[in-house]
Amino acid sequence: MTGVNIKFHSLHDELEDHHKKIELITKEAEKLLTTYTANPGELQRVPTGVEGFDELIEGGIPQKSLVLLSGTTGTGKSIFGMKFLIHGAQTGEPGIYISLQESMEETLNQMRFFGWPVDELIEKGLLLIVQPELYNYEALLTIIEDTIDKVKAKRLVIDSLSIIGMYFEEPFKIRKSLLDLETLLKKLGCTTLAISEIGEGQNELSPYGVEEYVADGVFVLYYLRQGNMFLRAVAIRKLRSTKHSTKIHPVEIERPGGMLVYPSEEVFTDIT
Ligand SMILES: Nc1ncnc2c1ncn2[C@@H]1O[C@H](COP(=O)(O)OP(=O)(O)O)[C@@H](O)[C@H]1O
Ligand SMILES: [Mg+2]
Repeated sequence: MTGVNIKFHSLHDELEDHHKKIELITKEAEKLLTTYTANPGELQRVPTGVEGFDELIEGGIPQKSLVLLSGTTGTGKSIFGMKFLIHGAQTGEPGIYISLQESMEETLNQMRFFGWPVDELIEKGLLLIVQPELYNYEALLTIIEDTIDKVKAKRLVIDSLSIIGMYFEEPFKIRKSLLDLETLLKKLGCTTLAISEIGEGQNELSPYGVEEYVADGVFVLYYLRQGNMFLRAVAIRKLRSTKHSTKIHPVEIERPGGMLVYPSEEVFTDIT
């Protein structure tokens, strides 16, 4: 082989190496691009079923989220939670209502009152209402895990999360306990509404002031005074991966249906 030939062959090999490298890089880039563009489409949304509400949140809550449903007493938090489960059950997604505040019978009656086919859904294993004994937090987590497993639940309502604070004295332990809960729910693949009872005149979104940091979303229900009457309203304070409404929308509670949100109307108020 002549010197020129040797030089030609090594150049040829080098070029081939470059081609291979370019091919590898192109494949990597293509892979990255498809994952990147596929992900937004892959985000599954869970419709709440509350009439008028889902269009405020791009069709539903991102699957496996933990959403705080916050508001003062009588604002309709429990009704919202119930409707979320009824809608899920009616579309084939089993759900669990963890009733820590009201008795199971009261929760059941409230659902029956709206004319929802509660008994039928329970019979079919699409709805489960549980009222766990409040021994300790670990026991509660075990009950949640076992019941989710039992009915292969996709939706969960905890009514209410405020009770959980009773297990702990220090706020940092509450935060840690919520993180544990969130990890468990993500592992089990459940979309959760955690009801957060806030006191009258309280400005925070949650009783312990830490829940909203851990949650993927916060919906706030209001009961507002306007002149000589009160008005119900809802706002989305936070919802990850969602371009949600930033307005305060009027709400009505009525039979049947439960809760009705007016997506194209807004409430003028100076609540912060
Ligand atoms: N059939 C109904 N028609 C109109 N309003 C109702 C009906 N049932 C319940 N409500 C309203 O819903 C409120 C209770 O809602 P609920 O979800 O239990 O509140 P929260 O859990 O936020 O305390 C009641 O105080 C009442 O104002
Ligand atoms: Mg309630």
